[in-house]
Amino acid sequence: MEVIIQSSREVSSKLAARNIANLIRRKPDAVLGLATGSTPLPLYAELIRLHREEGLDFGKVTTFNLDEYLGLAPSHPCSYNHFMWTHLFGHINVNPSRVFVPSGLVEGTAIEKYCERYEEEMRRAGGIDLQVLGVGGDGHIGFNEPGSSLASRTRIKTLTARTRADNAQYFVNADAVPHHVITMGVGTILEAREVNLLAFGEGKAAAVAAAVEGPVTASVPASILQMHPRTKVFADEAAATKLVRTEYYHWVYDNKPDWQRI
Ligand code: GLP
Repeated sequence: MEVIIQSSREVSSKLAARNIANLIRRKPDAVLGLATGSTPLPLYAELIRLHREEGLDFGKVTTFNLDEYLGLAPSHPCSYNHFMWTHLFGHINVNPSRVFVPSGLVEGTAIEKYCERYEEEMRRAGGIDLQVLGVGGDGHIGFNEPGSSLASRTRIKTLTARTRADNAQYFVNADAVPHHVITMGVGTILEAREVNLLAFGEGKAAAVAAAVEGPVTASVPASILQMHPRTKVFADEAAATKLVRTEYYHWVYDNKPDWQRI
């Protein structure tokens, strides 16, 4: 894991955006795995700026989102589909036929087959080149709550009370937060060629410390990223306060060979 600590979420997000832009310029038909939540918002704002001002071309890019609430139509203002069109897709030249967000409208026994097809689409696209992740305060990635199998695939999950409470701010009231979701599995996420986990603010400090320096355990799903060969953690100083090897992470970043710089 490469831990990159920057002074603020804005500086950190600009760096993460440059990392994605470098990939797209190197590989115009790159496949991106994308996340929702407040964390990636400054990253998406910067990608939009790069598209508008520096001509970053998303025309051949394919995207797969991590997760979606079950029961919400794509047009629902709290759906992750709506979130992605509002905060990113609506402002760049992505081809809608190359945009994949799990459907919130599948039901019952059809869900399992649907999830298999979502994984099949990922394989058909050539697999994910770079997966963007946020992290829940409890260490979840996507909607893989603590206890999720570290080998899990895309499937239905039940949200914890804590995640429902954390995400209630986006809904009219706490009861409106769905109980069930579709999420890529931990095993699915691990297949991405590169993972960029973003974490900002002191509310994420414990999750970051557990994920980066704690034991690998299903109790902290993000900790499995220690087993991933190409993971970068973009954190601001507040999210890095509980890390022990901070000095070393800065040392590594400051002494990078030029060819490895973002
Ligand atoms: C939700 C999303 C995750 C996200 C997490 C943290 O659970 N499914 O992908 O990482 O929230 O949200 P935030 O970035 O708003 O802190």
